[in-house]
Amino acid sequence: MLVKVKDILDKANKEYYAVGAFNTTNLETTQAILEAAKNMKSPIIIQITEKTMNYAGGRAIFNIIKNLSEFYYEEIPVGVHLDHGKSLEIIERAAEIGIDSVMYDGSRKKYSDNLMMTKKIAEFCREKGINLQAELGNVPYMKETGAKEIDWDEYMTDPDQAEEFARETEVDALAVAVGNAHDFAKERKEPDYERLAEINRRLNMPLIMHGASDWDADKVREAVKNGINCFNVDTAIRVAFISSLSETVDGENSVVSYDIREHLGKARDAVSMVVEEKIKIFGSADRI
Ligand code: G3H
Ligand code: 13P
Ligand code: ZN
Repeated sequence: MLVKVKDILDKANKEYYAVGAFNTTNLETTQAILEAAKNMKSPIIIQITEKTMNYAGGRAIFNIIKNLSEFYYEEIPVGVHLDHGKSLEIIERAAEIGIDSVMYDGSRKKYSDNLMMTKKIAEFCREKGINLQAELGNVPYMKETGAKEIDWDEYMTDPDQAEEFARETEVDALAVAVGNAHDFAKERKEPDYERLAEINRRLNMPLIMHGASDWDADKVREAVKNGINCFNVDTAIRVAFISSLSETVDGENSVVSYDIREHLGKARDAVSMVVEEKIKIFGSADRI
């Protein structure tokens, strides 16, 4: 059943565990995420981006999530979230469709502009009853970092700013930058757990870890101990899906078949396995 993302995150925050926010792009990925959540008896957040809305049709992908949740996974609390909304326009579009949790990502702007825009969007969200996640600091992507050495000080969330930002914007959750990175970008050797703990001490809200696809169980546990309540996962899903497809279409044990369902069905199973593993280490199994 669909529930508010805020309820999922606040429960995780109160009970000191984390949930996964998994990116979907299509029917099969959505089914895979839901099936894993069902097997693990876990609440789950399924998120889409502007690119996915343009690819699948915002309404179409939202209704795939909604219909699957209502008709096939009724016992699973499912939150739907717009990931990395970069403008008021895309957030308005999500709201119109019925998505009641969004991220506004002003992390590439200078602090004062991020603060100003987040405040404006927070006002819109309050009027519409939508939950809002913002990002402070910068969680880089491969295209921004390349293979070069990174000066992590330029990327980190500043605890003083985080405190002011949270007070001024009244967002529901904050995405933090403590050495984490998206896709295949180089991460800091060790996340800055002390910084994370300090942000957590000052903010009374769930903290979100983006770029968490490749985090092992020890890193995850340490981050949860220091205040993380949600890990975003996209790259691990993409890798599982495409690796499976290339194996069944063109690998050593490829299946000579033009039945789309045979190939996509296997890719779906591969994604499900990855999501189950993530749920186990995040600590949200048996929490429904
Ligand atoms: O951090 C967000 C996603 O991994 C990027 O997703 O390619 O759908 O914009 P996108
Ligand atoms: P990954 O690229 O590590 O999967 O991170 C995904 C993410 O942060 C989506 O918002
Ligand atoms: Zn992200």
